[in-house]
Amino acid sequence: FKDNAVIVHGDEYTKDAWTNVTPTVLSKISRQLHLQDRNPIGIIRQLIEGHFHDFKGFNSFSPIVTTRQNFDDLLIPQDHPSRTKSDNYYFNESTVLRAHTSAHQLQGLASGYNKFLISGDVYRRDEIDSSHYPVFHQIEGFAYFEHENKQDTLAAIQADLDNASPIPENIQVIDDTVIHQGNPIQSCHDQQVVELVAAHLKHSINSMICHIFAGEPDLKVRWIEAYFPFTSPSYEVEIFYQGEWLEVLGCGVVQQTLMNRGGRDKAIGWAFGMGLERLAMVLFGIPDIRLFWSEDARFLEQFQPGQISKFKPFSKYPPCIKDISFWLPATGDWHDNNFCETVRGVAGDIVENVKVIDDFTHPKTNRRSLCYRIMYRSMDRNVTNDEINEIQEKVRAAVEQDFDVELRE
Ligand code: PHE
Repeated sequence: FKDNAVIVHGDEYTKDAWTNVTPTVLSKISRQLHLQDRNPIGIIRQLIEGHFHDFKGFNSFSPIVTTRQNFDDLLIPQDHPSRTKSDNYYFNESTVLRAHTSAHQLQGLASGYNKFLISGDVYRRDEIDSSHYPVFHQIEGFAYFEHENKQDTLAAIQADLDNASPIPENIQVIDDTVIHQGNPIQSCHDQQVVELVAAHLKHSINSMICHIFAGEPDLKVRWIEAYFPFTSPSYEVEIFYQGEWLEVLGCGVVQQTLMNRGGRDKAIGWAFGMGLERLAMVLFGIPDIRLFWSEDARFLEQFQPGQISKFKPFSKYPPCIKDISFWLPATGDWHDNNFCETVRGVAGDIVENVKVIDDFTHPKTNRRSLCYRIMYRSMDRNVTNDEINEIQEKVRAAVEQDFDVELRE
């Protein structure tokens, strides 16, 4: 930050009355959780890309965009509430941190790919609680069909639908949506074509959800009518999972004005935008959205690329670390596991981990000495050094007795 400008990666953005980005929020730009293949956000992104395997993936567009990209290109009116300073992070009047991946729809259209995905970090000023954070991640999907006439368009969409695998049995799709005046077919569109595009959209989304929740015994998906300035008709999709309805995405048939501006006036298409955090929270059992940003190895090392696994909670209280070293008896095997059992027997769950930090054999006497580091930590309170010293003394006594070792200082 300079007096009159905000600087990011060497680029300067002149401040004005709109400037409200903060150093904290800017520090998130470099994190790129969606590109980390061991972060649940990255794992879900890859899972979705794997499902839409014939879509081109764009994952590295800069989150710093113009207000034109974030709003005007998407036909969001000048006075629309989503433009306010209180909802967005502005660098200045014309530059903003993107509030949705839709900000890149025109770039996607310009790329020439007729099916593409865009993932990235998005920024919104919002309340603070366990499921809201000023930075989250979205994936945008876009597909369009570009043909000379109605018959070819219908044939192409139908061929795609015929090729697609059917929706599995485990999903119940609730869709009472109807096309009507409040959520209309655009006047420039043909009804039959729009109905088929909408069917293609719905099939694509429903099967993606099945893919993400593979193996879930009773999954419910609900389609509801919605409104977005850049699609019509528009929908929102909710998923019933573990007793609650989660709102996961918005979508619809893309406004033809936007298609035309993207140089695709012969084409008709659909788009969706989906948040990744809520999905990751339910799938991985992550209780707090801040955890995704954790740099604690106890978080990151829990996850494997390409796999959904349940999060194991860990304590946020500080550890207390104690070392114990001893000479082994002259005869007999030594097994770490036996040692750990004794430690656990004395100290219980307050031990978080035990590891060897030194293993030394004296060159003359041939005696072997080991040093173990024990990390004590409570799940629910701060431990005191005094109480841990007392436990450590008991551990020392038990180890001495169980293994006939000679304790060192
Ligand atoms: N960009 C919208 C949002 O963030 C979602 C959306 C994307 C809706 C694409 C329609 C089409 O809420």
